[in-house]
Amino acid sequence: MNVLVAYHSETGNTRKIAEAVFAALHVTQKKLLPIVEATDLTAYDLIFCGFPVQHHSVPAKAVHFLRRIPPGKKIALFATHGSLRGGEKALSAFYAALNALQGQTVIGTFGCRGQVKPQLIDEWMESPQHLAWAREAQSANGHPDAADVADAREFAATMLYAAEQVHGLRK
Ligand SMILES: Cc1cc2nc3c(=O)[nH]c(=O)nc-3n(C[C@H](O)[C@H](O)[C@H](O)COP(=O)(O)O)c2cc1C
Repeated sequence: MNVLVAYHSETGNTRKIAEAVFAALHVTQKKLLPIVEATDLTAYDLIFCGFPVQHHSVPAKAVHFLRRIPPGKKIALFATHGSLRGGEKALSAFYAALNALQGQTVIGTFGCRGQVKPQLIDEWMESPQHLAWAREAQSANGHPDAADVADAREFAATMLYAAEQVHGLRK
């Protein structure tokens, strides 16, 4: 099983989760790369793609990467977001990612909170339209924390196991 962990990260939150995912993968062939450096995707059986939620959706760079994944790969998605875990904003980003993948096989998703740049929160606090969201984003301070990292490792191990099952490599 050849595994790629590709991620996009602007302030390091998603990179931290990507590193945890990568560390938990007990396979001989694996690579951890920013999505812009992951050019040739043909060799991989399982591809993890991680991104920060931006404007309730997926950053353009990640959409571009997802569209480049050749057919027949097993794909696992992860995201960090300022909003609450399991909330509608994070969910809409996963829907956007699934849409970009156009029917490819996604074997699982993982999301956790990631602290938001203080300048951005200050900006949003000024606008009545964004006030509720800015308050929600404030409580993401300190994330991803140790519990998020532990969950990400668990997610990685589960995805690897699922991919190997599909691959028929385990009895
Ligand atoms: C321009 C911008 C837009 C954002 N929009 C959202 C959003 O719609 N929903 C959300 O939950 N978080 C949003 N966030 C917060 C990020 O998703 C969060 O801080 C994330 O952990 C950043 O990850 P990174 O450090 O890997 O870039 C936004 C952040 C930025 C910079």
